[in-house]
Amino acid sequence: MAPRILSVVGNRPQFVKAAPLHLALRERAALRVVDTGQHYDRELAGVFYEELALDPPDHHLGVGSGSHGAMTARILERIEPVIAFEAPDWLVVFGDTNSTLAAALAAAKLGVPIAHVEAGLRSYDRSMPEEVNRVLVDALSRSLLCPSDLAVANLAAEGIVNGVEVVGDVMADAARLFGPVAERLPRSPLAALGLTAGGYLLATVHRDANTRQPALGRLVHGLSSLATPVVLPLHPRTRAALERDGLAFSGNVRVVEPASYLAFTALLRGARALVTDSGGAQKEAYYHGVPCITLRRETEWVETVTSGWNVLVGDDADELAAAAAAPARPGERPSLYGDGHAAQRIATILTR
Ligand code: UD1
Repeated sequence: MAPRILSVVGNRPQFVKAAPLHLALRERAALRVVDTGQHYDRELAGVFYEELALDPPDHHLGVGSGSHGAMTARILERIEPVIAFEAPDWLVVFGDTNSTLAAALAAAKLGVPIAHVEAGLRSYDRSMPEEVNRVLVDALSRSLLCPSDLAVANLAAEGIVNGVEVVGDVMADAARLFGPVAERLPRSPLAALGLTAGGYLLATVHRDANTRQPALGRLVHGLSSLATPVVLPLHPRTRAALERDGLAFSGNVRVVEPASYLAFTALLRGARALVTDSGGAQKEAYYHGVPCITLRRETEWVETVTSGWNVLVGDDADELAAAAAAPARPGERPSLYGDGHAAQRIATILTR
C-alpha cells in the first residue's frame, strides 16, 4: 500500500518548497496537505497556489497572525485532530516557521514520525524565532533531510546522527523548474516597472529584528542613500512597522506590493544584486547567478558566503553602500545544495 504522507504548509516560503516535493510525492504516496493559514493574503498565499500549481489543501486551519506564542498555540490546537484523523506514516514539515514548530510538536505527542525538510541549518543566533524553531524541530524529527554536509555536521554537534541524510535543497528544484517559466511571463515584471536588466537592485526586508528599532531606521536610511535604483516588494510586517514608527523610504527606493513567486523570480534574475534579510532568497539569488547582500550578521546558508556570492552587512549603511557599488560576482558557481533533484530523493526516502 502507498505510504500515507501528511504535508504541512502555512506561509510563502513553504508553498515554494512544497511545490516540487508534492509533485514527486503524488506519484508514489497517498499525499494529504494541511495549510495552517499563517499567511492568508492573496499576495502571500493565494497567488503562490496558482503559480506553483499546488492543489488546494485537504485541511485549512485559518490561524491568521498573532504573537509567536499565540500563533504557535492556535496551530498546535487545531492541527492535533487533523493529524489524529489522517494517521499518516509520515508528517512532513518545511523550514523554520511557527507552522513548522507547531505541527512537529503535535505530531511528536501523537507518536507520528516527522520528516524535516531543510534539517540541520543553524544561524547560532537564538534571538531569532526561526533558530528556536529549527533546533526544536530537528530534536523531534525521525527523518532529517539536509541540504548540505554542513547541515549534517551541525546536527552531529548536537548529537543527532540517526535518520540524517543529505538530499540537497528543494528550493534548487523550484528554481530549476520555475526559472524558465518566470523568463517567459507574458507581461514582463521588469517592463511593468520600467526597469532594465542589470540596472537596479531588488530588496526584501521582513525579519523580526529588522522590523524593530534601531535596525529599521538604519535600513531605511541605508537603502534610501544608495546610488542605484532599488525595487522593494514590501512585506506586510514591514509596512506596518514603517507606519508605526513614522518612517518612509525615499528617492531611489521604489516600494511595490509583495511580488508573486514568478514575478519575484523574474525581478531577481534581472537584478544587479539582491539585498535581503530573507533566508530562502539568499539561495535563490545563488541559483539564478545573482550576487546577494544580506542584511544580517549571520546566515544559515554559510556556503553562499564562503563561495563569494553573498556578503553579510547587517544594518550598516556604509557596508551596504560599498557592497552595492560593486557586487561580487565570482566566476565559479558550484552546486552548493544539490543538483535540483532533492524532491525525488526525499520521495524515495519516505516511500521505502
Ligand atoms: C514568517 C516566518 C519566516 C518566513 C516568512 C516569509 C515565522 C516565525 N517566521 O515570517 O521564517 O521567512 O514567514 O514571509 O514563522 N501578515 C499579513 N498578511 C499575511 C500574513 C502576514 O498581513 O498574509 C502580517 C501579519 O499581520 C503579521 C506579519 O505580517 O503581523 C508577519 O507575519 P508572520 O506570519 O508572523 O511572519 P513573517 O514575518 O511572514
